[in-house]
Amino acid sequence: MSTDVNVKMDALAGADPDALPLQVKDLHVEFRTRNGVAHAVNGVSFDLRAGETRAILGESGCGKSVTAQAIMGILDTPPGYITGGEVLYRGVDLLKLPESERRKVRANRIAMIFQDALSALNPVFTVGFQLAELFRKHRGMSRKDSKARAVELLDLVKIPAAKQRVNDYPHQFSGGMRQRVMIAMALALDPEVLIADEPTTALDVTVQAQIMTLLAELQRERNMGLVLITHDMGVVADVADRISVMYAGRVIEEAGVEDIYASPAHPYTKGLLESIPRLDLKGHELSAIKGLPPMLTNIPPGCAFNPRCRYAQEVCRKDPAPPLYQVSSSRTAACHFWKEVKGDE
Ligand SMILES: Nc1ncnc2c1ncn2[C@@H]1O[C@H](COP(=O)(O)OP(=O)(O)O)[C@@H](O)[C@H]1O
Ligand SMILES: [Mg+2]
Repeated sequence: MSTDVNVKMDALAGADPDALPLQVKDLHVEFRTRNGVAHAVNGVSFDLRAGETRAILGESGCGKSVTAQAIMGILDTPPGYITGGEVLYRGVDLLKLPESERRKVRANRIAMIFQDALSALNPVFTVGFQLAELFRKHRGMSRKDSKARAVELLDLVKIPAAKQRVNDYPHQFSGGMRQRVMIAMALALDPEVLIADEPTTALDVTVQAQIMTLLAELQRERNMGLVLITHDMGVVADVADRISVMYAGRVIEEAGVEDIYASPAHPYTKGLLESIPRLDLKGHELSAIKGLPPMLTNIPPGCAFNPRCRYAQEVCRKDPAPPLYQVSSSRTAACHFWKEVKGDE
């Protein structure tokens, strides 16, 4: 155990406890494929405070998962390459650490849960074994102690009859229960930051709500930073503090959750908001955004959203892409016409 702790301290010798647990600065990722270069992440920046939930929101194919993979150091290389930027954990740039040291950061400091719990668990070992292994490997615990910790964790994520279920295999759990197991594994080593990539997408609506409530509870209890990746604007309203809206590999709006819901400043955000089914507008036409996001091998010049945008003018179709305008002291939007969109021109 002592050697493990020493290595961890070496890897993060420069870590400043007063610095933010996660800061992403101007991150760039590209995939070099036979069909060309896919510009998956094009200058993404965001901060995460302890105890804060930041949602990263956007349709499929906007670079959300790639952003998470780059932060975690699990990008598929080749074909994926980080071509610029910084990922700071308490002031230490993780992108500069060797793989052996990054491994210590994963799970211990920054953990991740994936959309598909079944493929992330090993089918041939019991859930208890897989949880206990984390404590044996990372904490040098005995077989008996680590098994006891595994039961505690299943209890923590509210799996009924944890003492018995710890001996079951992943396929013996329902989708929702498996996602609880994934949360237990992610929290096992007390990370300061949890990245949840579409954690409820594969589940039915009732179970989705239960899992989100659980995540929010655990996050509050542990004062953990949570990066919640989702394509579903309905999911984030209750749990997020701040939202980064992504489109074609860029953050196109960044704001507190109330501001976003009250008065979106980017037409894309507005479109996402209008496509949430609302009970109070029953029978009202759903105005989902027409068309699809661009292929990231072929991003339109100017604002990447311009072909789908009802506000688009000539200036929007020409490079450079609109900068992030300061909408207020605490929010930005990358739209030349944000005042009009927001409704206070
Ligand atoms: N393994 C890969 N190989 C090649 N291109 C990839 C790979 N993973 C992601 N990409 C590219 O990055 C884009 C964004 O992917 P992703 O981050 O998974 O989107 P999402 O916002 O849905 O999570 C994809 O549309 C694709 O162009
Ligand atoms: Mg994804």
